Amino acid sequence: MTSFAPTSSERLAAHRLDDISFGKIVQIREVLLKAQAKGARVIRFESGDPSFSVAPHVLDAINAAGKAGKTHYIPNDGIPELRAALAEKLRTKNKLTTITQHDVFLTNGAMHALFVAFGVLLAAGDGVIIPDPMWTEVAENIKLAGGIPTRVAVTAASDYAYDPAAIADAITPSTRAIFVNTPHNPTGSMASVDTLEAIIELAREHDLWIVSDEAYEDVVYEPNVHTSLGSLAGDWADRVISVFSFSKSHAMAGLRTGYLVTRSPLLKERIQKLLRCTINGVNSLAQWGALAAVTGPQDHLAAMRAEYTLRRDLMIEGLRDIPGVRAFTPRGAFYVWAELDQEIYAKLGVSSADELSARLAQNGIGSAPGDAFGEQCTDAIRFAFSCETDMVRTGSALLRAALTGEETL
Ligand SMILES: Cc1ncc(COP(=O)(O)O)c(C=O)c1O
Repeated sequence: MTSFAPTSSERLAAHRLDDISFGKIVQIREVLLKAQAKGARVIRFESGDPSFSVAPHVLDAINAAGKAGKTHYIPNDGIPELRAALAEKLRTKNKLTTITQHDVFLTNGAMHALFVAFGVLLAAGDGVIIPDPMWTEVAENIKLAGGIPTRVAVTAASDYAYDPAAIADAITPSTRAIFVNTPHNPTGSMASVDTLEAIIELAREHDLWIVSDEAYEDVVYEPNVHTSLGSLAGDWADRVISVFSFSKSHAMAGLRTGYLVTRSPLLKERIQKLLRCTINGVNSLAQWGALAAVTGPQDHLAAMRAEYTLRRDLMIEGLRDIPGVRAFTPRGAFYVWAELDQEIYAKLGVSSADELSARLAQNGIGSAPGDAFGEQCTDAIRFAFSCETDMVRTGSALLRAALTGEETL
């Protein structure tokens, strides 16, 4: 990514955005897209964009809304019909039994829900405990809000489960919140009910908020089951902000629709102000589509889950028994996280996961190196299997050939 030195007339005081990265995965994607534009075959294992088309009844609802002229300004917090339908979904599916439509706020995807959540929660210098590794944009959104991410490692030895004792050790007087993501991007681990309850207990004991990112609530492999943290929070439920997305559940990533849920009166006031002054409401047609997605037939969820299961198995098979590569079989989300050691670096003549990822990209295979996700996980690499099944099949074979040294990188 080119960076431009400011001219003297442009020079400004240091700004919090100067501390935000351009995003490694975006940069890898650019390399692949350029190669693709020149006609090269590329394997899109770098980022998590579901390959599926939007369900027909969702597209019909979007068209119908457009034809009916539902293209004017809408309420900042979301169209009332959708807020009500989501409240119903949250009460029945997520077991957030006391949620009403006034607790639900539509955002431009879960990314923007995180921006809003940290924006309304944090004052300068407030700490948020996050897992390491973690999808990059969580730390970035904490920093954007003036907060400080505190990283607590999740490790292969415990199947990347959160460690409540390690979280407790990381709490300081400036800690304001604990961030939880299950199913977890990048490892595909899922938090157990016991772990979620232990985290809620810690929050209660230390007077902390919890931000629960459930963007992958519907991408879960049998026999695993997703539990919404808020459903376990009891008298601490007012201190939980839950984040959801239509991007992964309904393959609506480009429609940029997500939502956050809070019962806190203070936060609700702040959210209303932040939404009004930033987006002034999510795209109306996307919201009518989202309403159909949440109230209409749900068969597409099971169909996508079955296809993701197939893709997961293909990728895990491709990475099986490669010396120096230890892949974790994900329980949810659509990523394989593999830890790497010196053996594979020496065999392939690279010095790091970063270099390996760059070499793979030059050969048309996308990936995301460990250091895109944290500080304690550099010897690892993430492969996404959200692209078409045929691409996962071909790509897994190519990846195996590259990592076993059968094909020269
Ligand atoms: C854990 C997690 N949360 C939130 C998001 C944001 O998703 P979106 O903004 O598309 O809803 C992502 C996207 O990859 C993610 O991995």
